[in-house]
Amino acid sequence: MDLLLYNAGEIATLSHGEVSKPLSGIEMVDREKLVLDSGNAILISKGVIQKISSQEELIQEFAPDFADGESNLVNLVDAHGNAIIPGLVDCHTHLLWTGDRSNEMNMRQNGLSYQEISKRGGGISRTVESTRSATKKYLVNLGKHRISQASMNGTTTLEAKSGYGLSVESEIKLLEASSEIPQDKCNLLPTWLGAHDFPKGKSKDEYIEELISEQLPLVAENKLASWVDVFCEPGWYDLEQTELIVKASKELGLKSRLHVDEFVDSNGLALAAELGSSSADHVGFSNTESRAKAHESNTMQVFLPGTPYVLGKNLGNGINECIENNWNFSLATDFNPNCQTLSLPFIASLATHRLGIDPLAALVACTRNPASTLNSELKLNVGSIYEGGPADINILKSEYLDYWCQTPGLSPIEKTLFSGTLV
Ligand code: NIG
Ligand code: FE
Repeated sequence: MDLLLYNAGEIATLSHGEVSKPLSGIEMVDREKLVLDSGNAILISKGVIQKISSQEELIQEFAPDFADGESNLVNLVDAHGNAIIPGLVDCHTHLLWTGDRSNEMNMRQNGLSYQEISKRGGGISRTVESTRSATKKYLVNLGKHRISQASMNGTTTLEAKSGYGLSVESEIKLLEASSEIPQDKCNLLPTWLGAHDFPKGKSKDEYIEELISEQLPLVAENKLASWVDVFCEPGWYDLEQTELIVKASKELGLKSRLHVDEFVDSNGLALAAELGSSSADHVGFSNTESRAKAHESNTMQVFLPGTPYVLGKNLGNGINECIENNWNFSLATDFNPNCQTLSLPFIASLATHRLGIDPLAALVACTRNPASTLNSELKLNVGSIYEGGPADINILKSEYLDYWCQTPGLSPIEKTLFSGTLV
């Protein structure tokens, strides 16, 4: 039976123009083009949005027997006058890992940097030790639990990186575990991040050789991931090593999304643009020239303000620079052992409350824009609400769509539809 979502407040469709393409600058805050006034309803059939029109018209056509919130002809979902936004799209998560590193907080407060903690055996290598000993079944269950948390915060599409295995066996285990997590609440798109760090007991060259001649062929042959990622940062993978890994991956059909310029500007964003990467993430310290180059090359700049937030650092000016220059950008959670949030509304609260970003621009940066980096692997373009599109929709707990990122620590979501089904 079809489903009619009615009594909608304003609907942030975000579907102006070509929905597969990102928006930038003032386009991101154009309420007239991106938001419908209240009084409309949405008809959904087999997981797809069939019609968005006035409530009166849709009730007359599809639920002529409508009385007191009931109909025998369609399933009804009452939005109670609350605002509607698209399902959120988290394009950067480290979904699967085990262990606890909350002891690192005190180290940081005693003056140790992320790099120093890593040199003392903390950081990524600590998480690698515990993740290697976890079974695939355990990781799948953990993934299910974490997807539920993302879903409670409105996420309906999520990218998930490996990267805490750093060996053939455990990187494959992580990607296989990702593929076994049921996609009943959320689309899940895996990325291979074997080049997250260097494992103990191997030289850097030996490990890069393993990445290219052992891990990559297995990932590609078994279609375990659509993207490769590299932690391109001084102290981890340099520009040359990053290029080598990305080019080898490209030959086997993998696109790339890279960690760049998180702690310093090493021209990582410029390299991502040259390599034609789908996205370049962190980009906190990237220079202005690289940002312009990324925009020209359709490489999405993905800001992860949760990471500087938990590391006690300044959130930077990159997001505002992008808005001022009409450059595409997105926001994502970067869920990882240091930055344990799967809430895009919280990340957008940082952008809104701390950086002065308009809640509507922040919404575009958490939906349509990141979707443009992932759509190639999905049946339908996600991230906006349009006829013929997937019925991935959030009903907020408020009549104002701006509410969506103004409840840090609490979910602003009343109900979520994923593929036309309430989750
Ligand atoms: O994106 N910077 C690289 N990777 C993760 C954090 C890794 C970790 O500390 O476990 C990130 O922030
Ligand atoms: Fe990350």
